[in-house]
Amino acid sequence: MVLSRLKDAARRGRAEASLRKALSERGLEGAVNLRSLDDRLSASVLLNAGSGSVDVESLEADLTTASGLDRVVVVTSDHGQPTAPPPPPAPTPKPAGGGHADPLRLGSRPTERQGPQRPEGVKHVIAVASGKGGVGKSTVAASLALELLRAGKKVGLLDLDIHGPSLPVLFPTSERLRAEDGKIIPTEQAGLKLVSLGYMVDERTAVAWRGPMVMNAARQLIDDTAWGELDVLIVDTPPGTGDAHLSMIQRLKLDGAVLVATPSPLATADVRRGAALFQKVGTPLLGVVLNMTGGPFGDELDEALLNELELQIVARQALTVEAATLPFGPDSGLRLPDLVTKILADLTADNG
Ligand SMILES: Nc1ncnc2c1ncn2[C@@H]1O[C@H](COP(=O)(O)OP(=O)(O)OP(=O)(O)O)[C@@H](O)[C@H]1O
Ligand SMILES: [Mg+2]
Repeated sequence: MVLSRLKDAARRGRAEASLRKALSERGLEGAVNLRSLDDRLSASVLLNAGSGSVDVESLEADLTTASGLDRVVVVTSDHGQPTAPPPPPAPTPKPAGGGHADPLRLGSRPTERQGPQRPEGVKHVIAVASGKGGVGKSTVAASLALELLRAGKKVGLLDLDIHGPSLPVLFPTSERLRAEDGKIIPTEQAGLKLVSLGYMVDERTAVAWRGPMVMNAARQLIDDTAWGELDVLIVDTPPGTGDAHLSMIQRLKLDGAVLVATPSPLATADVRRGAALFQKVGTPLLGVVLNMTGGPFGDELDEALLNELELQIVARQALTVEAATLPFGPDSGLRLPDLVTKILADLTADNG
């Protein structure tokens, strides 16, 4: 047991060193993140801005060979660049099922993207994330969506949690999402547009999906939803910083991100990881929602951390029955007045 753990650690160390060497030999710099899953070791590389144009696919292949890893995913941080020229025509699609390019069976073809974009008709996109599970991301995402709806905005809520979608629990419906001409049509509840894998496939189907399938499913939810006109799209993300997050930052232009944490001392590393993901791609952090306060760990987060990351706490929420009342209705969830004010101001600035 101990021996195999030592061997694992040694393999990780060697692979990471080879990966960093291969990057520097190509004059590239970026954040490297190694993960192991089912005995497979993979890495994501978030290239620093200014790395120039790289052929992501061939770089991924080169880095995989050089490092001996099972898989390397490269993400470029080309957010905020001027509008790119129109993308080249989509390559000949692989047959559906082959390469798992169409996990949601929409019959749509993957399109090339020159950097992240907002979905057509959507003015503003905000992600809700946390390095940790079960801290209240979905509750915050749903609460924020409802508050913006109450403020008179047209709002959509996208659930990118492929393995544990929450929207069907928060907003249950027997309706299955339809695809029309390869586009997903959101379901609607009290004016809120909702998209989740949980409204599309059986809960057990996605459980076995790994890396590329998860990335492709997230890509389809991002690229292939017909939202119509929206002022704000709120994106609920899975715990951690994994494959769905990579699809998100590669494809979705984010106007802001909200981190969710609890006052536990263990939250520090998670907040740092969550913040790093967004700071790397230049997404403004709107602040931290500190959830489940009032317990043994009090109502605060490490102040040195907040100062270091230039982060503010935008809401504090105690553990209450109302916050967890299901299904979600006007009285459920959190009140987030400062965060809503901030977002409404950003929307006004966008339009001005
Ligand atoms: N302030 C609160 N008071 C009481 N219960 C809460 C509070 N916030 C969230 N909960 C409950 O805690 C559980 C986890 O919340 P939620 O699903 O929003 O977390 P999450 O971070 O999205 O989890 P996951 O990482 O699994 O996606 C849910 O049962 C939710 O109703
Ligand atoms: Mg969740």
